[in-house]
Amino acid sequence: MNLLQRPRRLRGNEAVRRMVREVRIDKSSLIYPMFVKEGSDIKEEIPSMPGQYRYSIDRMPEKLNELADAGVSNVMLFGIPLHKDETGSAAFDRDGIIQKALRVAKREVPDVYYITDVCMCEYTSHGHCGVLCDHGVDNDPTCGLLAKTALSHVQAGADMVAPSDMMDGRVLAIRNLLDSNGFTHIPIMSYAVKYASAFYGPFREAAGSAPSFGNRNGYQMDVHNSREAIKEALLDIEEGADIIMIKPAMSFLDVVTKVREAIHVPTAAYSVSGEYAMVKAAALKGWIDESRIVSEMAVSAYRAGAQIYLSYFAQEIAGYIDAGLIG
Ligand code: PBG
Repeated sequence: MNLLQRPRRLRGNEAVRRMVREVRIDKSSLIYPMFVKEGSDIKEEIPSMPGQYRYSIDRMPEKLNELADAGVSNVMLFGIPLHKDETGSAAFDRDGIIQKALRVAKREVPDVYYITDVCMCEYTSHGHCGVLCDHGVDNDPTCGLLAKTALSHVQAGADMVAPSDMMDGRVLAIRNLLDSNGFTHIPIMSYAVKYASAFYGPFREAAGSAPSFGNRNGYQMDVHNSREAIKEALLDIEEGADIIMIKPAMSFLDVVTKVREAIHVPTAAYSVSGEYAMVKAAALKGWIDESRIVSEMAVSAYRAGAQIYLSYFAQEIAGYIDAGLIG
């Protein structure tokens, strides 16, 4: 055949395949989500997330060191408090779970970069992401509480805060309160594009944060929409967001691409608990090749346009990069 273009020429061996790769994954762009709970000497497995654990503060450093040794030096912390109430007051308590965990972690493992999830759902007795009024979650008072929560995290040592509640105006409220307290240098990673997704199921079991009635459709995004994702992202940037996150990752890769093309700040994608659970369940049954599936999922997020990737598989992905499976 008289073909001038033969795409297979650039697939001839590993060296040339690696040379022409369009995306590369660097470990420094990985973030590992981690659950911390009250108590001592606790490392308990999350039933729907085999291989993932809730740690008490004293057991956290061993995991943080393990991650750092693997080359994963960014974590996102989620807190599981002892006490919940209507307003989620344990979220902004100076001695709340996250605040205490940060003080210990920053002292024991100072080289890790600590990002905190800022939300109320783990702390409210009703499991919604803010305080309630007669028509659902009361937006404006909730923004005030979220800002107080973010400030308390930063005062305890958080390097970055990440609001995940989906209230309107919360990035602005957080930015203003951080700035007026002298924290102009602390970045905000906004969960700007967060869908009302069934993929959060295992997380809600892990964190005990499922809503006790109703659902989150009144504040998280409708899965049918992607133009609206651009609106959410642009609004949060106007309010001061430094990084825009899209979540979940795998079923919203089109949204990652669209948002990435519309904005000029770094874009993150979060491979959520349900994605982890599905892969683990099938892998434990011997039905799929876990390392190849996880690698492919990670690469797809970067190829779609993410610069930052949050995954419960972050440590494994670092291992795959070392082994030359991806990267
Ligand atoms: C808190 C929050 C959730 C997740 C991250 N932050 C749960 C939710 O919105 O119900 C989900 C993370 C995951 O599923 O891995 N609002």
